[in-house]
Amino acid sequence: MQFRPVMGFVAILTIAAFLLPASLVAQEKTEGTEMMKKMEMMEMPFGGEADVAFAEALWTEMDGYDSWVLQSDIMPGKSPHGMFIRMYYNIVTLDGVAYHVVVKDNYGGMDVTLDMVKAAPADYLMAITTMVQREAGYDSDNNDWYWVKHAPDGMVAKNDMDMALAGRVAKGMPVGCISCHVNAGGDYLFLND
Ligand code: HEC
Repeated sequence: MQFRPVMGFVAILTIAAFLLPASLVAQEKTEGTEMMKKMEMMEMPFGGEADVAFAEALWTEMDGYDSWVLQSDIMPGKSPHGMFIRMYYNIVTLDGVAYHVVVKDNYGGMDVTLDMVKAAPADYLMAITTMVQREAGYDSDNNDWYWVKHAPDGMVAKNDMDMALAGRVAKGMPVGCISCHVNAGGDYLFLND
C-alpha cells in the first residue's frame, strides 16, 4: 500500500517526461509554421514589382529634370552617395496623380574636384536618388515617402541582396534611406535643415 502512491508519482513523472518534450516540439513546430505563413503574407517594404514599375514610370516622367526651375548649385555633399551633389524639386504627374518630387544627383570619381564636376556634370554623375511624397497611408510611419535610386542610364539600383532600391527602402532596417533620413528633422528632408 505504501509504495503505490510512489509508483503512481513515478508513473506520472515518466509520462510527463515523455509527453512534455513532445508537446513542446509540437508547439514549436506550429509556431514555426505560423511564422512562415505570416512572413509570406507580409509584403516586403521595397523592391517589389509595383515599386519598380513606379520607379520606371517616374523615370520616364522626370526626363529632363536637369532643366527644372527649382534646383540648387552643384555643391559638396554629406551623404554616402555623392561627394558632390545637386538637388532638384518639381511636381510630377503620374497616372493623373501629382506628386512632390525631390531629386538628388550624386557626383563622384577619382580625385574629382568641384570645378571638374561643374565643368562636366554628366561625366561624374554616379547615381540619382529620388524621394516622392506618395498618397496618404503609403507609409504613414515615414511621411509617406517613396524612395528610389537610379543609375544614370535609368536602371533601378539594387542592394547586395539583389533587391531593387525602390519603395519604402530599407524600412525597419538599421541602415538605408529611411533610417538615415529620419535624422532630417521630422520631414525627412535635409535640404531645408
Ligand atoms: C547615411 C545617410 C543617408 C542615407 C543612407 C541616404 N541619404 Fe539621402 N541624404 C542624406 C543627406 C545628408 C542629404 C543632404 C544632402 C547631402 O549632403 O548629400 C541627403 C539628401 C537626399 C535627397 C535630397 C533631399 C534632402 O533630403 O535633402 C534625396 C532625394 C535623397 N537624399 C534620397 C535618398 C535615397 C533615395 C536614399 C536611399 C537609396 C538615401 N537618400 C539614403 C543622407 C542619407
